[in-house]
Amino acid sequence: MNSATPTADAPLLEMQGIQKSFPGVHALSGVDLVLQKGEVLALLGENGAGKSTLIKILAGAHRADRGMMRISGDPVTLASPAAAISAGVGVIYQEFNLVPGLSSWENIFLGREEGSLFVRRTAERKRASEIFEQIGARIPIDAPCGQLSIAQQQMVEIAKALSQEVRIMVMDEPSAALTPQEVDKLFAVINRLRDRGIGIIYISHRLDEIARIADRVMVLRDGKYVADRLISDVTRSTMIEWMVGRTIDDEFPKRSVSIGDTRLQLKKLRREPSVRDVTLEIARGEIIGVTGLVGAGRTELARLVFGADPMEGGEVWLDGRRLKLHSPGDAIRAGICLLTEDRKHQGLVLGLSASANFALPNLAMLSTLGWVRHRQERDRFRHYVDTLKIRLSSPDQLAGHLSGGNQQKLVLSKWLEQNSEVIIFDEPTRGVDVGGKYEIYTLMNELARQGKAIMMISSELPEVLGMSDRIIVMHEGRITGTVDNVGDATQETLMDLAVG
Ligand SMILES: Nc1ncnc2c1ncn2[C@@H]1O[C@H](COP(=O)(O)OP(=O)(O)OP(=O)(O)O)[C@@H](O)[C@H]1O
Ligand SMILES: [Mg+2]
Repeated sequence: MNSATPTADAPLLEMQGIQKSFPGVHALSGVDLVLQKGEVLALLGENGAGKSTLIKILAGAHRADRGMMRISGDPVTLASPAAAISAGVGVIYQEFNLVPGLSSWENIFLGREEGSLFVRRTAERKRASEIFEQIGARIPIDAPCGQLSIAQQQMVEIAKALSQEVRIMVMDEPSAALTPQEVDKLFAVINRLRDRGIGIIYISHRLDEIARIADRVMVLRDGKYVADRLISDVTRSTMIEWMVGRTIDDEFPKRSVSIGDTRLQLKKLRREPSVRDVTLEIARGEIIGVTGLVGAGRTELARLVFGADPMEGGEVWLDGRRLKLHSPGDAIRAGICLLTEDRKHQGLVLGLSASANFALPNLAMLSTLGWVRHRQERDRFRHYVDTLKIRLSSPDQLAGHLSGGNQQKLVLSKWLEQNSEVIIFDEPTRGVDVGGKYEIYTLMNELARQGKAIMMISSELPEVLGMSDRIIVMHEGRITGTVDNVGDATQETLMDLAVG
């Protein structure tokens, strides 16, 4: 530690004049941030605004080009992740960093193993279960993390950070994959940390949550500080205006589409234990919202319809024809596409450029004449970059270097290009900012207008209520409720159905 005498009332964390550029991008230009002990500071901003970059600098994962940091008044240079950890900074990243083949407890203590495997195993398993208990997470403790659901993996990440002595805890979109109950548990954990005097930086695009958990908000736009204010002194529409630079009156664009003939029919689809006799119809121009708790079988249902998992029973019909689906290839040829929830593992090749990722699944669709294909692709890609407002320095920017929300939009664009008749969206707006959500909803409305049948799986209840013509609620593999009159439904209605 530095010899400068820390004053007792110095803020827990001060970041001053932080500047960071990547080739072609000024990610941060002179950002200041102050965090007090026992405070939850929400960090807001559009996709690509620089939030993750700022916290990666705090975590020692990136070096700032300029600027300084102090912890409890002491200047610090957090030159590596290890240095940040020993300074008491714990980070839960937007993209998980778990080793899929290792169990939850092995992941939690990875790199900090002490003693023989036998001694460790007992002690670490015990400590891991205690932390899971504290945060109310139910995790099969010895299962490889690759087999856990996204929500469970998120809980392992949280446990990993909690297993270290943290003074500053950073959470980059920790709730993006969680259902309302899981978010409640997470908030209980955050409140406990706050009571212990830990300072928390919380990044999220869910403004309802911010209002519940944050003490203060700070907004970044285009890598610059815009404002910070006590949460009690700021309204939702002000936060939106600070983020996007304009007001958004209605977050869910209206549409008037006449619902036509039945297109997709699912008849008693079954794959135990996650999908049990699911029967469902979706018509031309209809958007069906599918909600439920994590583990309710929503994603598994989507995978059956997409041919990604074999069915144990039941039939899928499209436009009056029975489909034989043995692989996703069969589904795509039949006109069904699935936008997966897990962009990192199923959606993108992070080491390829954005435009190459866009082209990947479309190769078969376009001309085999190389140069024609190339130009068409570029044009199509540019079209999506414009309509979805994907923020990139150039089409050649690596997918892995895009901000989280922009990666999600990229996944969306490449599947939309398939021009399918049935589109299944699994958590389409996870991690996408308010403005971007609006673009995606508008696009969904347009697809419905073209006569496509749309299934939207989502845990974000305002989105389900705002966008669906009909809502299906699942619980333990079964449909436990159908809401035809969406206008009369509330979040409580859906939650009651979701718990069975
Ligand atoms: N390693 C990198 N190489 C090149 N550019 C990068 C890199 N990391 C981030 N960027 C760019 O820096 C800018 C800020 O990205 P950052 O990930 O901080 O955004 P964010 O506010 O976290 O957005 P989101 O809400 O989408 O997660 C973006 O333009 C992004 O493309
Ligand atoms: Mg980010």
